[in-house]
Amino acid sequence: MEPKRQTKTNAAERLETAFANELAQVNVIIVERMQSPVGMIPDLASHLVRAGGKRLRPLITLATADLAGYEGDAHYKLAATVEFIHSATLLHDDIVDGSPMRRGKPAANTVWGNSASVLVGDFLFARAFSLMVETERLRVLDILAGASSIIAEGEVRQLAAIANLNMSEAEYMQIIEAKTAELFASAARVSAVIADLPQEQELALDRYGRELGLAFQLVDDALDYAGSAAKLGKAVGDDFREGKITMPVAKAMQAANTDEQKFWKETFSKPTRTDTDLNEAMRLITKHDAVRTTLDQARVHTANAKTALQIFAPGKTRTLLCDVCDFVVERSF
Ligand code: IPE
Ligand code: IPE
Ligand code: MG
Ligand code: MG
Repeated sequence: MEPKRQTKTNAAERLETAFANELAQVNVIIVERMQSPVGMIPDLASHLVRAGGKRLRPLITLATADLAGYEGDAHYKLAATVEFIHSATLLHDDIVDGSPMRRGKPAANTVWGNSASVLVGDFLFARAFSLMVETERLRVLDILAGASSIIAEGEVRQLAAIANLNMSEAEYMQIIEAKTAELFASAARVSAVIADLPQEQELALDRYGRELGLAFQLVDDALDYAGSAAKLGKAVGDDFREGKITMPVAKAMQAANTDEQKFWKETFSKPTRTDTDLNEAMRLITKHDAVRTTLDQARVHTANAKTALQIFAPGKTRTLLCDVCDFVVERSF
């Protein structure tokens, strides 16, 4: 007898399959609300949106709404809102970071230029706000409007911290909590609000998203040194080239001998860094096992995320949301 073929799918794919019908409805809203008579807007927005992306944040909204026992249809608009906020920040972030590639395609700023990308990012933000207003839930507006300003604060703090070798790990964690984890937290928390869950459950969903988001960004920062552009759909080494001090660098610097300290100091004081510099940075990161220690730290946060879900009844959706935590740490390695 033929051995049964194992089809290996990761947890993000399983989550997407489980919520395929719901996600299809969200995608309809996304495409509808990207439209504008000003042709450059849908052209540029669909370049990014149709390139795919994992849709992790809207899937979290859909799955947590299910976990919360929500039975209405406001979660579709909220999932689309969350993806619009995410897309707007990506358009702006790629300009700030000078990134050439996003979702496996040339970044919008390299095709249409920075000005158009800024403006279409603003358009997507505004559309996100219109969508969430339609849910007529003031608490939801409060959460997602708050998240949008916190993301911007995180990005500005990161900008101000460029090449600052004295930045503490605590400060780095605050930055990634703001720029990344806040949106994951909100994506999950709004589900509790629309389902009228008690505060304890609402805070648990916030905690789940927040811890998952922290892990997500730690892993993303590890992948910038250890990942492959083909798998990630974006260039690797971007953080280093732009002088961003992330956790793998912080860990390698903590373990550095005198010569290595000199290398880090000189390299990050220069206006630009070469491929030779990047190779040396990667050698030191490998020597001090800094990617592994970054991933270990990410696992602490995914463990916290899973713990936060324990107040919900066990079931398929809770298992999927827990499994997504492992996916986040294991993706693309
Ligand atoms: C990229 O997020 C931005 C970060 C917070 C690192 P994703 O990796 O979720 O991007 P897409 O949506 O799948 O392209
Ligand atoms: C992504 O941050 C943008 C936000 C979280 C707002 P990064 O700059 O760290 O992520 P990538 O590497 O461009 O996706
Ligand atoms: Mg970036
Ligand atoms: Mg950035």
